[in-house]
Amino acid sequence: MRMILLGPPGSGKGTQAQKLIEHFKIPQVSTGDLFRAAVKNQTALGKKAKEYMDKGALVPDEVVIGMVEERMKQPDTKKGFILDGFPRTIPQAQSLDKMLDQLKMKVDAVVEVEVPDAEVVRRISGRRTCQNCSAMYHVEFNKPKVAGKCDKCGGELYQRDDDQEDVIKSRLKVYHDQTAPLVEYYGKKGLVKNVAGQGSIDEIFHKIKQALGAA
Ligand code: AP5
Ligand code: MG
Repeated sequence: MRMILLGPPGSGKGTQAQKLIEHFKIPQVSTGDLFRAAVKNQTALGKKAKEYMDKGALVPDEVVIGMVEERMKQPDTKKGFILDGFPRTIPQAQSLDKMLDQLKMKVDAVVEVEVPDAEVVRRISGRRTCQNCSAMYHVEFNKPKVAGKCDKCGGELYQRDDDQEDVIKSRLKVYHDQTAPLVEYYGKKGLVKNVAGQGSIDEIFHKIKQALGAA
């Protein structure tokens, strides 16, 4: 299974990816997580990416594409992958097509998770993320067993710098302007599966599996 998770910030891409990894036994490639790891390690890539991330803007295409190319060359992607947060622009999608052609691979499905903007703001403002393993929680909708600690690895939970209301609004605008056109791009290839992203995390997971013919 080679799939892309498409959807606005806070639509639950990362949350669903965690469940899909277990179900399909394939890795998640999250460009947001890769950038946050680079920021944490204070690499040159991280310093550059942070300037854009803090404003809710997209990191320039050439930077993202180079990073994804490196990641896709790793052997674990041979059995399949879940792309989360990439591609996010038409040029990124075109580069992905080229990249996969060279690796003799193709995308099987693009799952579009639809969540209204007001719900996005509610979800993101209560999100907590594990410093250590990037697992996501929500202070109301998906609480950790022990407040402030990750259930999976015991890591500290923190609030992302870009999870503030003004930055969330910029990220939403960027999504509608630059990323939403990918629905048409992949629609023309007959790959898009629409999933309504409201309901419990398990309900949405079930709908995604159904859409993929894997329920
Ligand atoms: P990225 O990390 O990809 O952020 P995003 O797309 O804004 O999406 P999020 O991670 O915020 O949301 P999500 O859909 O994963 O939702 P989650 O599962 O956490 O990108 C960050 C930045 O990096 C970008 O702004 C950009 O600067 C840069 N970047 C990354 N990729 C790039 C690219 N390709 N090109 C250029 N720049 C790039 O869920 C959200 C919350 O809701 C959680 O608290 C969760 O517990 C809760 N929740 C989930 N599902 C439900 C549910 N069903 N009901 C109630 N609550 C729920
Ligand atoms: Mg995410």
